[in-house]
This record gives sequence, C-alpha cells and structure tokens, in this order.
Amino acid sequence: MTFDDQEHLERDPLIDQILISSAEIQRRVAELGREISVEYRETVPILVSILKGGVVFHADLMRRLSVLHEIDFLSVSSYEGGTQSTGVVKILKDLGNSITGRDVLLVEDIVDTGLTLQYLREILNARHPNSLKVCTLLNKVDARQVDVPLEYVGFDIPNEFVIGYGLDYDEKYRHLPFIGVMKG
Ligand code: PRP
Repeated sequence: MTFDDQEHLERDPLIDQILISSAEIQRRVAELGREISVEYRETVPILVSILKGGVVFHADLMRRLSVLHEIDFLSVSSYEGGTQSTGVVKILKDLGNSITGRDVLLVEDIVDTGLTLQYLREILNARHPNSLKVCTLLNKVDARQVDVPLEYVGFDIPNEFVIGYGLDYDEKYRHLPFIGVMKG
C-alpha cells in the first residue's frame, strides 16, 4: 500500500478495504505489458478500451507496451447506476476505425457475468478481424454466467462489489489508484 492509498482509505468512510493496492496493480500491468508485447511483436495491434471502466487500465497498459500499436474506444453500458448487471448491453459509441484484418485486443476493467464480452465478441467478430483477444484487469470468476475466453487476466477476485482504478459506484470512485471494496 502506498501513502496515497492510505490517504484515500482514511478520508472516505465508504471504502471498507483495499483489495489490490496501487503498487500491486502497477507491477501486474507491467508484466502484462511485457507478455502482450511479445505476442504482438510482428503486428500492429489495436488496443480497444471498453469505456468507461477500462480507460484507466488502458492508459497504463499502453504505456507498458514496447510494440507500436493503435488505440480505439468503444462505449457500452450494461449496468443502470446500481450494483447488479441487468444483462442488457447497449453500444453507446462505436469504434472509430475498421478492424477488418486487424489484430484487436479488447481492454476491460472487469469481467463479471461475461455477458458484455460475449456480446462484444459476437459483434466484433462479425467485422472479421485477423484476431480478437481480451485483456481484463479483474476476473470475478464466481459471478460468471456465460463462458468467455480471457487471454490475459490481471487478477482473479472474489464476488464482491469493487471500486477504483476505473470501476465506479454510481459513476464515482473511478479515480482511486487501487481496487477497493465498498462498505456493505
Ligand atoms: C462493467 C465493465 C464491463 C462489464 C462487465 O461496465 O466495465 O464492461 O461491466 O460486466 P459483465 O461481465 O457482467 O457483463 P459497466 O456496464 O459497469 O459500465 P462502465 O464501464 O461505464 O462503468
């Protein structure tokens, strides 16, 4: 835990505990960056950030890549302001560029039920990329409702409501540098 992590924890009574510290996240992001750089050493992949939650991880991960790559953004919404998935996935903003024939890496903050990714894989595969893989920082294994392949996973986490490092509660708390658990 860093001094910053500790300060946030002390200032906000709604944060129960730190699940993954900012230092642990940064170490793991660097490792993932190295692995991804090896896999994509002979191509120029497109790293697609799934807004809004994926944006913090995406911004850190891309700076850990040693290969040339492009970035794009896709905005989807499946949760309606609360803490439970409705299973409804809406595209709010589509990709800016074509992915046909390209190597695409989807960058997610968390895979929970898997419904969002299942849907995204379906619609993006229909555009015929050369490859479509997923890198998620968090994998909530016990919440899975559908089986989706995850090529890169930062951390497996328990079935708790987590916030920070891009993840929100009612659109807030995305700025926290760690993954925290809300008071129940
Ligand atoms: C979160 C997360 C994933 C999705 C995962 O997004 O970023 O996209 O939920 O859940 P699932 O596996 O149950 O489908 P959310 O809809 O909360 O939007 P946000 O990223 O804008 O906060």
